[in-house]
Amino acid sequence: MFFHINTDSEKPIYIQIFDAIKEMIETNMLPAHSKLPSTREMGRLLGVSRSTVITAFECLESSGFIYTLNGKGTFVSPKKIKLNNEWNIDWKEKFNQYAYDTEDLDLMKNGMPYKKGMISFKSIAPDENLFDIDEIKRSFMDLMGVEGNKILNYGYAKGYRPLINFIMEYMKKIGAALENKSVIITNGFTEGFDLVLDSLTSAGDKVLCENPTHNTAIKQMRLHGLDIHGVNMDENGMDVSALESELLKCQFKLAYLIPSYHNPTGISISYDRRKELYDVFKQHNVPIVEDGFSEELQHHSSHIAPMVAVSGKENSVIYIGSFSKILFPGMRIGWIFGDEVLIDMLQSVKRAKNIHTSFLDQGILYHYMQSGSYEKYIKKIRNIYGDKCQYTIKLIKKYLPWEYISGEGGLYVFIKLKNIDSHKLLENCYKRGVLFMPGDVFYVENPAKNALRLSFSRNSYEELEKGIKIIGEECMKF
Ligand SMILES: Cc1ncc(COP(=O)(O)O)c(C=O)c1O
Repeated sequence: MFFHINTDSEKPIYIQIFDAIKEMIETNMLPAHSKLPSTREMGRLLGVSRSTVITAFECLESSGFIYTLNGKGTFVSPKKIKLNNEWNIDWKEKFNQYAYDTEDLDLMKNGMPYKKGMISFKSIAPDENLFDIDEIKRSFMDLMGVEGNKILNYGYAKGYRPLINFIMEYMKKIGAALENKSVIITNGFTEGFDLVLDSLTSAGDKVLCENPTHNTAIKQMRLHGLDIHGVNMDENGMDVSALESELLKCQFKLAYLIPSYHNPTGISISYDRRKELYDVFKQHNVPIVEDGFSEELQHHSSHIAPMVAVSGKENSVIYIGSFSKILFPGMRIGWIFGDEVLIDMLQSVKRAKNIHTSFLDQGILYHYMQSGSYEKYIKKIRNIYGDKCQYTIKLIKKYLPWEYISGEGGLYVFIKLKNIDSHKLLENCYKRGVLFMPGDVFYVENPAKNALRLSFSRNSYEELEKGIKIIGEECMKF
């Protein structure tokens, strides 16, 4: 606390101290209940006698500006603080179109909110009760032992080197060729996709995706002003002849695909279909952004090589991975695997946006992954989610008037009902405490009004039965 004492002034020094502190309190420069220096220290700081400061403090206290607590010191009283209250900006008028567009596309704000006690089939988050908390604590301690303080300092845009190496090895294991390829760590898939769109697309560019597809990806493509063309799916994934006829119409900048455990349908494209699709994209020179978010979550069947493996040594596939559906979505860790030139540019884009993904989180995750805990955990959750998925499908078949069901390996099941509008159904179910995701939000064109997605990951078996039975009863009223 510094202010100037004018020894030439006719104003007594204790009044100068009084006025200076009073002004600092009234203008909120000294926050309420903050401690003032002791009279001895202030006297020393100002070069005046302690008794002068004591007199100034007595005046401040009797005027209600400060209060004293015996043995603790002197503090600013909140009573005399005059907060400014005339300048009131109308922020709604200041927001730009981008902000309004994000709000319009925000399902969390615009959808029906979850209320305590409801049975929700909406969120496709993993069940946090299955997380290995003790192993995570151990990984944190291991990390601190190895890295010490430096893990808390700035890191690199590309990511934490041991985790990058681990992911490169993982990519090799799932069939990707590593020559001339690299990895950058991102804040989940969502940031990875954003970085790709930021770097490769401009407003008005044409892009392709499955119809339906991941709603967040639709939102991101819309916010980038892209012209989105949806390609219909059959029960085995993107329809090859529909894709071919779409590709004949115009040139596309890129295609976004979810070949494994597609959201919302849960479909995994067969190896042969992947190859067919890859060849068609290759023929038309359209790069593929492959979303591998659930790659590890197959319940029982064997794993199918991703598109990035199909591409061999070619550099046409940008693979975006994420740990969000398997491990800890709260850590927000994902990665982009692709051509070195691309990854090098993405480092600059990421650095410009947020410098890097948390090194502490990357370090914990790396120590967890390489300790062997991950393999045990993944084995456990595959069985649990696999059994829950089968049970959910059994209940759907028992209680709902379904026309179509898909889902084999993710955390949810996709359903088309017989002639029932899923939005109207949701309104009625909501009144009875049940929430689900109506299917139309996943479509870029021709929405299926009778579709819905039911997530089973965080519900108990009892909740699954109770909730699906309620949906069934409400269906009967149509
Ligand atoms: C298709 C798809 N990709 C990726 C993700 C994961 O995104 P993030 O890693 O940003 O949590 C999700 C999550 O729901 C998803 O549905």
